[in-house]
This record gives sequence, structure tokens and C-alpha cells, in this order.
Amino acid sequence: MAAPIVKIKTQEEIEKMRVAGRLAVEVLDMITPYVKAGITTNELDRLCHDYIVNVLQAIPSPLNYKDYPKSICTSVNHQVCHAIPGKKKLKNGDIINIDVTVEKNGYHGDVSRMFIIGKPSIRAKRLVEIAYECLWLGIHQVKPGVHLSAVGKAIQNYAQSKKCSVVQEYCGHGIGSQFHEEPQVLHYYNPKLEDVLLQPGMTFTIEPMINAGKREVKILPDKWTVVTKDHNLSAQWEHTVLVTEDSFEVLTLHDGEEVFCPSNLKK
Ligand code: MF3
Ligand code: CO
Ligand code: CO
Repeated sequence: MAAPIVKIKTQEEIEKMRVAGRLAVEVLDMITPYVKAGITTNELDRLCHDYIVNVLQAIPSPLNYKDYPKSICTSVNHQVCHAIPGKKKLKNGDIINIDVTVEKNGYHGDVSRMFIIGKPSIRAKRLVEIAYECLWLGIHQVKPGVHLSAVGKAIQNYAQSKKCSVVQEYCGHGIGSQFHEEPQVLHYYNPKLEDVLLQPGMTFTIEPMINAGKREVKILPDKWTVVTKDHNLSAQWEHTVLVTEDSFEVLTLHDGEEVFCPSNLKK
């Protein structure tokens, strides 16, 4: 299989991606105080939709994307990703991933975070933390001259060392003027796939889905919601990343969020 063609963004495009990334983060910051027991995921979707359209004057990228009916994804507990907001109310102890993608001036920014409702179980809290460390371990691999597979290798090694599993059916993705573009960013290592050599100006997401139990997933009859087959918990965090001249820039850091250095990385 031939290596995919990965677009190298110009300075102008990178500036637009910084804007889109910042706006996507703003949506997560706006919604944070509402993410409490008793609210429905539909209500979270409505608040995000209205904020994106009216305040940010941007477009919620998921809405009508391949018939997706809502503006955000809200994946609770054993839901892995792409869960459609609905009537379900959040309750104490739930963990939820809120995934926001916005388009501004023709460019997309994609970010997601985990939220814990009330008091989590010890294993839920642990899973959420491991997934966060996986994301950052992946990000820290990014620099010119490195193969993209280093990202997946680092994530898989760490997740498995913590007795968690990595979902393989969904991956990170190039992002820019398209919501999803080349390359695919695997969160595990597959030696059979052609590897991409990272170059300055590439932009893509890293968004590992980490399961407490087995890695297998299935899609619900709504054709979107992905859940773990064994009904164990799943957690995911996502950032949009730029390859710079010497390392990486995270385009979706929120105010005050530090570049996180997982403890087993000397930095
Ligand atoms: N934001 C998701 C991602 O990280 C994709 C959602 S596609 C949708 O790639 F259609 F489900 F919204
Ligand atoms: Co994404
Ligand atoms: Co996303």
C-alpha cells in the first residue's frame, strides 16, 4: 500500500487552525459548568450548538456530517465514541467524553475531554487518568523525522502496561480544511500499514480510546454510538496537534493547560 499524501499546511492555514482550535476549546470551557448530574446530553448539545453558531459564529462540524444528527458527541461510561446526545440524564459517578469540532474560516479544530460526574469509582478515575496519559505520551512522540507509528506504539505500550486495552477500529486523523483527512493516526502499532514520516506543517488529531476491559467494540442500531462489547468503561481525550520545526504545538490547549509530561517521560 502506498503512503498516504499528507497535506503540509502553509503559515496562513496554520494561523486559521490555531483560531479553530481555540474556538473548539472555548466550547468545552463554556459547557464545563453545566456538566453535572441531572442534565441531559441533549441539553449539552443544544447549549454547545447555540454557542458555536451564535457566539463564535462558527459551524459545528459534526452536524449533518455523514448524516450525524447533532453538534457534539457525548459518550458516557461504556460508550466509546460518537454517542449521539439524547434524553439520558447524567448521574453521579458517570464519566462522559464530550467531543467538540468547529469549523471557522474553512478550517477545523477538534478536541475532546473527559468529565467525571460527582464522585467517581476508583477504577473510573484511574481509567480517565490513564487515557489522559496515553494522549500525552502520544503527543510527545511528535516531531519531524519521526514515523507516525511512534505515536500508536507509545500509547499501546503504556495502556497495556496498565492492563487496559486500545480500541483499534477508530483512530485519530489529519485535519485542516477537511474534518477528516490523511493520515490515519493509529493508537496502536500495525506493522502492516505504510508509515508516514512526520514533517513540519502536518496537522492531525491524537484521540486514543482506552478500555478498562477488552478492546472489542460494537455499533448500536442508531448506526453511530460505539460501545464496548463487554460493557466495561471506556475513556478518550483528544487534541489537535501541529508538527513544528523541532517538535509539536498543541492547537487545542485550554487556558492554563500545561503541556503535560507523563512521569515516565524524562523531559
Ligand atoms: N469529533 C470526532 C473525531 O474526533 C468525530 C465525530 S464524527 C461525528 O473525529 F459525526 F460523529 F460527529
Ligand atoms: Co477527531
Ligand atoms: Co473529536
